[in-house]
Amino acid sequence: MIIGFTDKVFLITGSAQGLGRELAKIALASGAKVVINSRSTAKEPEVSELFKVHKGNFSFCAADITKATDAQRLVEHTIQQFGKLDVLINNGGMSAFGDLSATSPEVIEQILDSNLKGSLFMSHFAIPHLAKTKGSIEFISSLAAIHGIGGYSLYSASKMAYLGAAQSLRKELKSANIHVGTMFLGFTKNDPTKVTYSPTGSLEIVPVRKGLPVSTQTESATLILKQIKNRKPIVVHSAFGKLTYVVNRIAPRIIHAVLLNQYRKQNPDN
Ligand SMILES: NC(=O)c1ccc[n+]([C@@H]2O[C@H](COP(=O)([O-])OP(=O)(O)OC[C@H]3O[C@@H](n4cnc5c(N)ncnc54)[C@H](OP(=O)(O)O)[C@@H]3O)[C@@H](O)[C@H]2O)c1
Repeated sequence: MIIGFTDKVFLITGSAQGLGRELAKIALASGAKVVINSRSTAKEPEVSELFKVHKGNFSFCAADITKATDAQRLVEHTIQQFGKLDVLINNGGMSAFGDLSATSPEVIEQILDSNLKGSLFMSHFAIPHLAKTKGSIEFISSLAAIHGIGGYSLYSASKMAYLGAAQSLRKELKSANIHVGTMFLGFTKNDPTKVTYSPTGSLEIVPVRKGLPVSTQTESATLILKQIKNRKPIVVHSAFGKLTYVVNRIAPRIIHAVLLNQYRKQNPDN
């Protein structure tokens, strides 16, 4: 037992690959039952093979969280399969790069739909069930949400919005005793197949991060699951993230100057 989630029921969006799959793996090894989600059934055979030792404790559900009907069906699937819901992890989402002025309206819609609208749809449909179990909603935000990063306005905006939602939900759900957590996650090793939106809407493979401190998926997933276990409202990943978070609270102009310098180096013509 890694963390101790015996018989807890998890619903993890975007959990057929990357960090979500690792969250599912550790939750299952910790005694939980897990609903695995992807937009299609393409990854179901691979996931079923990977988790075969946990047969009966996981269930795959294809659903696109940008659609309210799919989000509702995903929550209903969880209740039908396991009878309750203890933890919703809003992990599924997409990233994008490029200045907002160069980004197509379709990409703007896609990022806000998958990252923000999708997480709000999921939370909306999960709340009545989480109230019965005094459960948790966890938002997987990013260090890019501590202070807006130049060249990533769309991604920063979508991930920063989680904090507003989480702060409001902590008031709305206080009497129901539902824990609401936000994880400001830093660089984590990506699957080699991970893609990101270019400003024009093409999907590009995320390059391997060289020369930067990167956590393993196991380290990041463990940190998130410990936050849920300990019902902490906010956790910031890594020493670098914690320093950025504190300095940004005391003197945001310093972080602005550092990030502006970085943006100008990467965009010398701007
Ligand atoms: N990796 C990092 O360094 C890092 C840092 C900070 C924050 N994060 C956040 O951590 C989360 C996971 O990141 P990752 O690196 O594991 O990314 P990833 O490999 O790209 O996985 C993202 C997952 O989201 C799912 N998804 C996307 N749109 C969806 C939709 N409309 N409906 C349902 N699922 C959808 C994808 O499902 P499909 O199976 O359908 O493709 C995929 O499984 C993301 O929210 C990301 O922003 C990551």
